[in-house]
Amino acid sequence: MRKLIGIAQLQVGMFVDAEAVTETRDGQPVYYLAATRAVSLGPRGRRARLTGRMHEKVAQDGGLLLTSAHQIDNLRETGLTMVTIDTDKGLDLPPDLRPLTDPSRRPPPPGRLVHFDEELERAQTIRDETSATLQTSLAEVVDGRALDVDRILVAGGVMAESLLRNVDAMVSLTRLKRHDPYTAVHCMNVSTLVTAVALHDGVDPGQIPMVAAAALLHDVGKTRVPLEVLNKPGRFEPHELAEMRLHAKHSGDIMRETGRFSDDAIAIATQHHEMLDGSGYPQQLRGEQIDRFARMTAVADVYDALTAKRVYKPAMPMYQALMRIQRNRGTEFDERVVDLFIKALGLYPVGTLLELNTRELALVFQPNPQDPHHPTVGVLTLPSQKPRAVPKLVDLAIRSEGEGREIGRPLDPEKLGIDVESSLQQIAERGEHGERRRREG
Ligand SMILES: [Fe+2]
Repeated sequence: MRKLIGIAQLQVGMFVDAEAVTETRDGQPVYYLAATRAVSLGPRGRRARLTGRMHEKVAQDGGLLLTSAHQIDNLRETGLTMVTIDTDKGLDLPPDLRPLTDPSRRPPPPGRLVHFDEELERAQTIRDETSATLQTSLAEVVDGRALDVDRILVAGGVMAESLLRNVDAMVSLTRLKRHDPYTAVHCMNVSTLVTAVALHDGVDPGQIPMVAAAALLHDVGKTRVPLEVLNKPGRFEPHELAEMRLHAKHSGDIMRETGRFSDDAIAIATQHHEMLDGSGYPQQLRGEQIDRFARMTAVADVYDALTAKRVYKPAMPMYQALMRIQRNRGTEFDERVVDLFIKALGLYPVGTLLELNTRELALVFQPNPQDPHHPTVGVLTLPSQKPRAVPKLVDLAIRSEGEGREIGRPLDPEKLGIDVESSLQQIAERGEHGERRRREG
């Protein structure tokens, strides 16, 4: 049986799923090990070397039987954080440890190492921890203490791991916008979305923790904006607006002062309000002058701000915000980035309220990366739009389950008085989900 486990759980005697890779350097063959169904946060070029004899054996066996602690160290040094072991060919996990995905279920969708529902709970815990870390760090900066870069980089790495296990889980949680004094939740949402876009763009995994950490810090410069400006409820006077806009430069300065961030990472902060057509600030940069990751951050930042509820404005429904971004594709926003963004978030993000062709109202409960038009939804009402006693969980991609249901149009849940969070909770608890899981198992 195949089990996905954390690198820390790896033991001598286990069998790691892997391929043997051969490359030619200076006319000589060089042999490497490439772990399969694994997560690596190491730079793409860093791989474990193999001798010719080992290479042959790995190719023959479809993996590596670990015979020494040294081999495990080598794998860890390449940046691997999770690997798949085959318990028919080597030792199993000790009975008190659980693998990251239940091996008795059908395999997760392509590009995902674990199921959406399996990652959701972990992603929520990681978000809570990251938000606390960020709040502490920002408060320290306000107090005049140094930014704790290590702590932020670790947080970025942990978020990146969750996104690499199943990108849809943490992305779906960006709909949560609890407000807090230093907007830690906003920073985390932006970081999640930027990292997800970067992953969809095929960015070298070695860069991902740094990108995630830098995006977490994109607004850290707000700690240098006077509080009376930052918290001003009404319109800004011109000098206040100028002060407020300086936060992007301040963010870059704070990151540069630590000496720990690359130019790319610093650009995420300094350029996150630059727009493709030169209409942004502070430098009115255009097109390619704007760093690639900063172009991703600009889209994520605007999306999260639009969909957030503020004292002065209601939350814009997710589909409307996506349409707004789509409309400015090629003017304010990089076209490619917008496409990747919609791919990362899904056509119908989790929590979107839909009217189906049957006139039933339904909430998107789980994305379907293979078929974005057919997510799993929780049907909340009857065709008369009277609430159902218990929401019905329906996978629109399964013909027998969908019973001809198709997506009609998205609606604004606030206008219809539907509380998205409590409805999703109800779907998760009572939406015949348990039964479905049992069937799958
Ligand atoms: Fe900002």
